[in-house]
Amino acid sequence: MVTEISAEAPVLDRRGDQSDEAARKKEFAVPSDQRFVLVTTDRTVVNDGKYKELQDGSTLYLLQNKDQVLPVATEENINFVPHYNTLIESGTFEYFAEGQKSLPCALAELVDNALSATAKNTEGRTIEIQLLFDRTFGKPAVVVLDNGCGMTSKQLNNWAVYRLSKFMRENSTFESERDTYVRPEPVPRSLNSDISYFGVGGKQAAFHIGDSVRMITKPINSPDVHELVLSKEEFQKKEQNKEDVFKGTILNRKPGDYSHVTSSERFLQEVIKEETGKDSFTAVVITGVCPEHIKYLKQDFSEWTRQLAHIYHYYIHGANGNHKTDNSLRSNVIPQIDILVTLRDKPSYSMNLRKVEDDMQTLYINSAVDTFEFKVKTSEGGTVDGVLRYHPFLYDKETYPKDLNVLQAPVEEDDDENESGTMNQARGKRDIFECFWNGRLIPYTTVSE
Ligand SMILES: Nc1ncnc2c1ncn2[C@@H]1O[C@H](COP(=O)(O)OP(=O)(O)OP(=O)(O)O)[C@@H](O)[C@H]1O
Ligand SMILES: [Mg+2]
Repeated sequence: MVTEISAEAPVLDRRGDQSDEAARKKEFAVPSDQRFVLVTTDRTVVNDGKYKELQDGSTLYLLQNKDQVLPVATEENINFVPHYNTLIESGTFEYFAEGQKSLPCALAELVDNALSATAKNTEGRTIEIQLLFDRTFGKPAVVVLDNGCGMTSKQLNNWAVYRLSKFMRENSTFESERDTYVRPEPVPRSLNSDISYFGVGGKQAAFHIGDSVRMITKPINSPDVHELVLSKEEFQKKEQNKEDVFKGTILNRKPGDYSHVTSSERFLQEVIKEETGKDSFTAVVITGVCPEHIKYLKQDFSEWTRQLAHIYHYYIHGANGNHKTDNSLRSNVIPQIDILVTLRDKPSYSMNLRKVEDDMQTLYINSAVDTFEFKVKTSEGGTVDGVLRYHPFLYDKETYPKDLNVLQAPVEEDDDENESGTMNQARGKRDIFECFWNGRLIPYTTVSE
């Protein structure tokens, strides 16, 4: 006889009872002279000890012996929720796979989201990267704050869902209020701020930088601020307690209310105090920042800010880029986008990425002798705006700017005076084209991709 029962079946609750065996036989209509055995689907006999370890909802067989062949096929209910590492370690491979410095790329993901969120701002767009490393304010934190549209609690819930992209998400509880994704109209250099695609960037970035992320957001037209914390520690706790790791709570509160903030996170009080009077905003607060990252962010401040200024060059300086000397070449419309970086330490330091004068794009633009602009329409209706720049080899020297952050390509031994060898030396390992997707540099992407 084969049967499938649940661990919750009442017959099992009477283990230890003298009439136990008889009761079980009765429950399952097993003749009194017949022996039977309870086994799991991987054929482990469920004795008293094993019974205690059974999970609710387990599928068991009632058999004549442990190895009895199944006379009929059975179906077993299983659960395959991914491990929380899917979420918290997701960025690690991606950032390192391309051999680049990972932190500027991770911060850029958060800036991308802030650019998208501020796209419809009627007044200025402000994105602040705050490095709160002054220990008098509690543990170290990285905060990315924007004055964009914010998120409703439904949207905040969607933010947390790994790989829920904008193309498939339901952003309202009510079907009648759901709007579908509309691709923005073409604009010069594709500076459309529509920089999100996979539904992974924010989470990958946050857990690459630290091990806890608190999203604090207020959507337009709502009196409430919504907060959601995802943290490695919470995931671990839930896993130990056999709780659903992908369940959590959103805290809904009035702006400025920091009564829930603990003393180890005093810096949050400052962040929350500034909420009052704001129509909408989003703050991404990352803690558990590893010491190596803190060291890099402090010591290599100019390197990573230079890289961010390069990534967002056209958002910062407009479609024509940063022409330093010839005003006539500058863009007529300079976007009202301020990306501010503040290092709160001893001493504190603050800068606007617009002030960076040595990012690679600025160097390319200002050292080119000539440029050729072109536009290509793709078969799917996309547009590629392109610029070819001419950097001549002059007086025995390359005029192509050197990128100090990129390894120089080794000179091939039998290449002596060979032309391509000289070219490689100048370019290092960089590709000859740089690709900006929707106006934002995607480092290390080549044209074929
Ligand atoms: N600063 C923000 N302000 C408002 N909404 C935000 C903000 N950051 C994230 N969101 C919302 O959360 C969603 C998920 O963000 P996330 O960066 O994880 O993925 P994505 O931007 O959709 O795609 P990608 O993987 O390309 O970054 C965004 O699409 C956006 O709707
Ligand atoms: Mg994103």
